[in-house]
Amino acid sequence: MATSSSSTAPQRWSSRWLFVLAAAGSAVGLGNIWKFPYIAGENGGGAFVLIYLVCIAAVGIPIMVSEVLMGRQGRSSPIHTMRKLAKQAGRSQRWSILGWMGVLAGFLILSYYAVIAGWAVSYIWASGSGTFDGASAQMVGATFDEFLASPMELIAYQTGFMILTIWIVGRGVTKGLEAAIRWFMPLLFLLLIALLVYSFNSGGFDQGFAFMFDMKWQAVTADSWLIAMGQAFFTLSLGMGTMMAYGSYVPDDANLGSTVFTIAALDTVIAIAAGLAIFPIVFANGLEVAQGPGLTFVTLPLAFGQMPLGNVFGALFFSLLSFAAITSAISLTEPALAFLVEEYNAKRQRVAISLGVICWALGLGTVFSFNIWSDVTFIGGLTFFDTVDYFSQNILLPLGGMLITFFAVWLLPKGMLDSQLGIQSTGISWAWRVVAGIIAPLGVLAVFTSTIWPLLSGLW
Ligand code: TRP
Repeated sequence: MATSSSSTAPQRWSSRWLFVLAAAGSAVGLGNIWKFPYIAGENGGGAFVLIYLVCIAAVGIPIMVSEVLMGRQGRSSPIHTMRKLAKQAGRSQRWSILGWMGVLAGFLILSYYAVIAGWAVSYIWASGSGTFDGASAQMVGATFDEFLASPMELIAYQTGFMILTIWIVGRGVTKGLEAAIRWFMPLLFLLLIALLVYSFNSGGFDQGFAFMFDMKWQAVTADSWLIAMGQAFFTLSLGMGTMMAYGSYVPDDANLGSTVFTIAALDTVIAIAAGLAIFPIVFANGLEVAQGPGLTFVTLPLAFGQMPLGNVFGALFFSLLSFAAITSAISLTEPALAFLVEEYNAKRQRVAISLGVICWALGLGTVFSFNIWSDVTFIGGLTFFDTVDYFSQNILLPLGGMLITFFAVWLLPKGMLDSQLGIQSTGISWAWRVVAGIIAPLGVLAVFTSTIWPLLSGLW
């Protein structure tokens, strides 16, 4: 029976450090590279960076600690962990709904993440082969539009990315996740450093630095706080059980506080470094900064196309984006995968393939949102892609995060919480409760209501 018991044998990260890298791999993704730099520049530069740091410390870290500690306490998939912990705490089994919400969010996010990551992969070739060398803004824009208009091309890259993701996760924690992390994370650091050196010498460094770090307090609005909080939350991969699933593989002797702090610090440093790699290149070519897809797939290729060795560094940039995306994608499947393997004592590989196929099919909706279904809209005029994105990111994740910290702080037996965290003094224990049990959930509540309010009021 050696084979069937292997699927239930407890899995563990080989070391605390591998958990740090895996969690940072999940956290560092499209959010760091195409979102953070832009919103920082637009919302007050250095002033926004400070606000963002406050949000990471007051909301992000407490929620991440809660997720990881619940995972390590439950030592199983988020759904089973919630069942176990609710039972131990004498609470309703309905708390396992939290685990189900996470599974759903993971599916939805991965379905479109794979499509967009596919764009990044295709741009490795496009840049490397010199498509953008000396191209005009119009030509670069047209290349992107034509790409989006072709479902077959998008599906080809989406499929390739999904196959790689499923192949990695199917191999298990040690042979799959860890092996990928050991390769991709060092590569990601190297690429980022190479791009930083390049941008430092681009001639636009001062301007790029000023865009991100000048203290423009007049640009800070109440909205900036909400944006910072939402970003802190999304970038750390919180609210859907990913960190709970990864936490279930954390060795017993790892100190959770310092481990989570390291993960959040790595994520933040990489987001800032991404901005310092991107903006100087944009400014050196006298271009305007745009947001999201426009910045990444039009402005940047255009800028690289004007620069010496631009095709090489363009290809490196899109490789960076692809590596960041794959280490996030593999973490999105873990809550669902771990649950099905435990529940049915099934082979990981088989479960991974089934999940992958469903997720791939769902992703076709995102592919078509950019071409044949671009006119099909749902509530609030959102396309299929926008709807999936909105529902997962603005509803499922914040709701999940809020309930997770609330549960960890107020419903788990106090002794369990303190021993997981290694807290010995009553003062620290109370300080922790105030930050993680009151400030963090309230912060998320503020973001949550402010994002769904316009949607609700749009309904009538
Ligand atoms: N953190 C990822 C990024 O910055 C995106 C993300 C959000 C995510 N929630 C997640 C990734 C859950 C994995 C799991 O792009």
